[in-house]
Amino acid sequence: MKNEMDDVLKILVSEKELDEITTRIASEIDRDYGESPHRVVLVAILKGSVVFMGDLMRKIKTPIEIDFMKVASYGGNTASTGNINIHLDLQRADIANCEIILVEDIVDSGRTLAHLVEYLKLKGAKSVRTATLLDKPSRRVVDFEADYVGRKVPDEFVIGYGLDFDEKYRALPFVGVLKPEAYEK
Ligand code: IMP
Ligand code: MG
Repeated sequence: MKNEMDDVLKILVSEKELDEITTRIASEIDRDYGESPHRVVLVAILKGSVVFMGDLMRKIKTPIEIDFMKVASYGGNTASTGNINIHLDLQRADIANCEIILVEDIVDSGRTLAHLVEYLKLKGAKSVRTATLLDKPSRRVVDFEADYVGRKVPDEFVIGYGLDFDEKYRALPFVGVLKPEAYEK
């Protein structure tokens, strides 16, 4: 049987650490939103954040709603132009009553979340904050910091727990680094 584990060079964030991260961020969100009189909406940025979202939302005690957005950078992965295409947008009439928490897998250049925060504020959201599982600060090209950060990681391409390479490895239960030969498959 094919096994994606065989392509993994090393584990960077273990299942135990991922569990600790989602527990901590859920309690930070409860601390900050527990008394909110508005709708608290977790918005997962598809597809990479779905696993993080699923674990995080089950640990938040504050009543929340969920929604989804899908974006792509013009010109593929390099994103040199910095333009963000919105492929799936929020369709909510009540956005002025929503406190939005964007849920992302990883902040790299920072362009995606910097753009979406401004976009949702312009759309009239009551507030917009961001939660990211991983952060690669050394790769930043725009001035952006997420409000809730699971863990900083070095400048290595990571996969698993939602993150992909060529749509593969999303279902691995940890965050890891691929063997160089896996990129040629
Ligand atoms: P940025 O912050 O706008 O550059 O975009 C971050 C997005 O790039 C993430 O949502 C991922 O889809 C993708 N990305 C960046 N680094 C990695 C990585 O190491 N593994 C998988 N996807 C990555
Ligand atoms: Mg992504």
